[in-house]
Amino acid sequence: MKAPELITDPAIWQARCSAARDGGARIALVTTMGFLHDGHLSLMREARARADAGGRRGLALASIFVNPTQFGPNEDLSRYPRDLEGDLAKCASAGIDWVLAPEDPNAMFPPDHQTWVTVERASQGLCGASRPGHFRGVATVVAKLFNLSRPHVALFGEKDFQQLAVIRAMARDLAMGVEIVGMPIVREPDGLARSSRNAYLSRDERARALSLSRALREAADAALRGERDAAALAARARARLDEAGLRVDYVEIVDPGSLAPVARAEAGSVMLVAAWAGATRLIDNLRLP
Ligand code: PAF
Repeated sequence: MKAPELITDPAIWQARCSAARDGGARIALVTTMGFLHDGHLSLMREARARADAGGRRGLALASIFVNPTQFGPNEDLSRYPRDLEGDLAKCASAGIDWVLAPEDPNAMFPPDHQTWVTVERASQGLCGASRPGHFRGVATVVAKLFNLSRPHVALFGEKDFQQLAVIRAMARDLAMGVEIVGMPIVREPDGLARSSRNAYLSRDERARALSLSRALREAADAALRGERDAAALAARARARLDEAGLRVDYVEIVDPGSLAPVARAEAGSVMLVAAWAGATRLIDNLRLP
C-alpha cells in the first residue's frame, strides 16, 4: 500500500496532470471534501480500475477541498469535519496515486475570482430550493478541478443525486470531454447512507436518521404492491420521517433524467428525501422498482 503523493499547489498539480495526460496516461478523478468514508472509497477503487482499464497503469487521482463557495451563510463550513492524515491513509488503501489538497481556500478561489458556472434546470428544486447558490458553487469547483486535472473519467456518488445530474449536464453542455460515472450509494449495515455529515449525529439523532432509508424502502415496497400514485407514496414517506421526529425539507418522486416531479411512479423513478436530524441535514434516495 503506497502512500499517495500529496500536492497542495493547484498550479503544480495542473502541470503534473497535463504532462501525464500528454504522455498518454489515462486519468480517473474523484473529487471530495475529505473526511472520507466507504462511499468515497468505492469511488476511488473504481477510479483505480478505470485508470488502468487501457491495459497500462493509469493515474487514479483524488482531490480533498472543503469548497467554501457551496456553503450558504448559515451552513456548516467552519465545523465541516476534517482529517487529512486519515484521508491520505484511506486514499492509499484505495490505490490513489496523487491527492490534491489545497491548504488555503484562496488557492482555489482567490479574492478576485469572478467566474461562475450555473447549470440552470438541474439546479432548480430539491436541494437547490433550500440551498440557494449551492450548485453554482459545486459546478464551479468541479469545473475548475476538471480543468486542473484533465481527467478522462470522473466518478460521483448517486447519494448526491441532484449534484450528479448537475455535473452531468455541465460536462455535456460545456463539452468538457470527461466521462461522468455515477456509483451506487454505500450504506451502513442498518441502511443509513454513508455521509461525512453522519459524524455530527448524536446517538439519538443517528437512530432517528434511520427513518430516511426506511421511508424509502417502505415506499419501494408499497410501489411493488401496486401503489403508483406519487403523492400517496410521498405522503407515506413524509409521515414516517415526521413520526421519527425529523424536520422534513422535501420528499419527492422525480424522473431520473430530467429531475421533474412525476405524478405516477414508474419503475426507475427516483424518490428523494432531505430532512434535518437536529442541526444536521441529511439526504437519501432510492430508485423505485
Ligand atoms: O460531493 C462533494 O463532496 C462535493 O460537493 C464536491 C463534488 C467534491 C464538490 O466540492
